Amino acid sequence: MKILVTGGTGFIGSHTVVELISAGHEVEILDNLSNSKESVLDAISKLTGVSPKFYKADILDRARLTEIFSGTKYDVVIHFAGLKAVAESVEQPLKYYENNVEGTINLLNAMLNTGVNNIIFSSSATVYGDPGVTAYTEDLPTGRNIPSPYGKTKYMIEEILKDIAMSKPEFSATILRYFNPVGAHPSGFIGEDPNGRPNNLMPIIMKVAQGEYPELSIYGDDYPTSDGTCIRDYIHVVDLAKGHLAALQHIKPGISVYNLGSGKGTSVLEMVAAFEKASGKKIPYKIVGRRTGDLPEMHAIPEKAFRELGWKTELTIDDAMRDTINYLRALA
Ligand code: NAD
Ligand code: UFG
Repeated sequence: MKILVTGGTGFIGSHTVVELISAGHEVEILDNLSNSKESVLDAISKLTGVSPKFYKADILDRARLTEIFSGTKYDVVIHFAGLKAVAESVEQPLKYYENNVEGTINLLNAMLNTGVNNIIFSSSATVYGDPGVTAYTEDLPTGRNIPSPYGKTKYMIEEILKDIAMSKPEFSATILRYFNPVGAHPSGFIGEDPNGRPNNLMPIIMKVAQGEYPELSIYGDDYPTSDGTCIRDYIHVVDLAKGHLAALQHIKPGISVYNLGSGKGTSVLEMVAAFEKASGKKIPYKIVGRRTGDLPEMHAIPEKAFRELGWKTELTIDDAMRDTINYLRALA
């Protein structure tokens, strides 16, 4: 298939591009490089032997989108482009609504105007808000008590996609709700290398290991969990990328929603211990107060993705740590 990948030089996008090309798909990438580097394109070429066409473009630039879509007839758009820093979205909500929601509306207009009816969208477990359970199935209600403007943009985009599907029977949107992506490509060529200060646990552990930050602040050890720290469902980014390939093979008209997670929970302290075991390095940490909006515990029930897409995770936290460390060595 001919696929446009927005955000294709980012963390999850780049790993997905590698899987798509390796499976024989024809890929083009659109990214404004606001949170990624052009050098990722060289890494993709080295890994796959293919140099995908790259548009340095912004999804807020409607004229540019029209130009790009009038040049090629895509079968599918896989839409990763978006801002994702939760704390920044609380400080600058309009930036997030503009970039994520308006940007997606622009993209959808460009698609529909050129007869492109298939989209795979990067959503997040954050759309479930605080559902009152720790194991998440796709049929839980969404949109209630979402803790950040970032999370609300994902919910709003899901609703927009549902409305389009109601109005246009041939439209197909596959909504993939990711849990916590971690790890890197086993080659060490691509991984998570955000511009600026990261928010998520793994990139912060990486910065501590590199000596850029003196220690990790753990947000609370008084939660009602096994060791008092929060529990999340960490998923290796290569497994996640393969989830997109599986979704691509099962595109059908209407809305399809899948949780992409491992189904297992791991605490913050267990993540630190796993990194220390894999690297042989101590990660200094201190316990600080709870972070607003954090839930004590969540994990995916990924059975629907297995049943309908034949997809499940294959890699472990230890694999993710080994690949992260390998990537860090390559960066050094
Ligand atoms: P990332 O920041 O590494 O990748 C996003 C890419 O989109 C970046 O390369 C960035 O430059 C690009 N981009 C941002 N705004 C753009 C714009 N206006 N026009 C063109 N390009 C733009 O993030 P990621 O971790 O790879 O996440 C990919 C998607 O998955 C995002 O939509 C994110 O919200 C979603 N998601 C991520 C996580 C996570 O924890 N990483 C969890 C759930 C959902
Ligand atoms: N944490 C720390 N210290 C840090 C950073 C994180 O203790 O410096 C803890 C958090 O409190 C949380 C866990 O590590 O308990 C994971 O935090 P992340 O910020 O890495 O991830 P979240 O689960 O908060 O959120 C992530 C993405 C969201 C997405 C959500 C989906 O950032 O975009 O997963 O489950 F919506």
